[in-house]
Amino acid sequence: MALQFEVVAKCSKSKARAAIMKLPRGPVSTPVFMPVGTQASLKGLTPQQLKDLGCEIFLNNTYHLGLRPGQEVLDKVGGAHEFQNWDRNILTDSGGFQMVSLLKLATITEDGVTFLSPHDNSPMLLTPEHSISLQNSIGSDIMMQLDDVVHTMTTGPRVEEAMWRSIRWLDRCIKANKHPDKQNLFAIIQGGLDLDLRVKCCAEMAARDTPGIAIGGLSGGEDKHQYCQVVSKCTDNLPENKPRYCMGVGYAEDLVVSVALGADMFDCVFPTRTARFGSALTKFGSINLRNAKYRDDSSPIEEGCGCLACKENIPKSYFHLSVGKDTVPAHLLTLHNTYYQLNLMRSVRQSIIDDKFEDFVNEFFSNLYPSKT
Ligand code: GUN
Ligand code: ZN
Repeated sequence: MALQFEVVAKCSKSKARAAIMKLPRGPVSTPVFMPVGTQASLKGLTPQQLKDLGCEIFLNNTYHLGLRPGQEVLDKVGGAHEFQNWDRNILTDSGGFQMVSLLKLATITEDGVTFLSPHDNSPMLLTPEHSISLQNSIGSDIMMQLDDVVHTMTTGPRVEEAMWRSIRWLDRCIKANKHPDKQNLFAIIQGGLDLDLRVKCCAEMAARDTPGIAIGGLSGGEDKHQYCQVVSKCTDNLPENKPRYCMGVGYAEDLVVSVALGADMFDCVFPTRTARFGSALTKFGSINLRNAKYRDDSSPIEEGCGCLACKENIPKSYFHLSVGKDTVPAHLLTLHNTYYQLNLMRSVRQSIIDDKFEDFVNEFFSNLYPSKT
């Protein structure tokens, strides 16, 4: 296996754990937030800037890379690491989820996901084999299986059908992987909000013995209680010695809660997307710098933040004036928000190692909701 997962500390009061995930392109400290660079490089940040932020792994999207630059170019240059000049780890999602959620016109059959090409509207079929072939050409260190994702709020037989199909598709993905020695294929647990289905799916996926396992089909409008129940049920039924990845989760409070429930890895476009609309993440919650109250605010986004914008004391008033009118403020905010997420996870991790995770959680929530504590 091209992945080793070593738990270095466990919280005594929750299921939180700190670990080192050893991958072909270097170790990743978990819990980890993985920024998303949909169009190859992270929108607005260079690989060197990501490195400077301490990023050890980031996400690419198979579907986007498969369209541009395309498989032929990827094969020619030797994969997405070369293509982007990024020598650390890359995780790729399989592409089906993006089609279903972006295009809406996708239809799913046992073969795979059919959708209309955004180029010429011709029908295209993404099969488990094709997704893995693309991910092999990308050369990602962690690959995700093609899964059948139904919207979180779907009920009835379609949920169970999608779960069993995802299991069959995992078997096809495992067979199709040409580089199991260097590219780690992760399974994805489905089963909607039905806890019995989730338990069944965990058992089936765990039996396939993939190097890591993801929890999918969440963050689609379910309430927090349902979300927590599903994550907790899954972590209770997944192997202790493998990384657990909560897909599409990126709000700070969801990260902290999910770590307490035993999850190790996360990704979300939210921090970088929201930056482009003028929102900055801080320990007191997210603030929108377009708000008039920042017009003459001369303080940095967050006192003590280690990102370039805050270290250089660029005032909130600058962002207020220029966000949406220039690319520089969006770029700086992307840096700030990515730093915030990575730093949050580093603090979470350190508190687990020091066995102070409970104190961390209390302080985190009292900053976020000062009136309630
Ligand atoms: N991203 C967020 N949720 C999911 C999911 O359930 N499956 C896949 N493949 N990607 C996701
Ligand atoms: Zn900052």
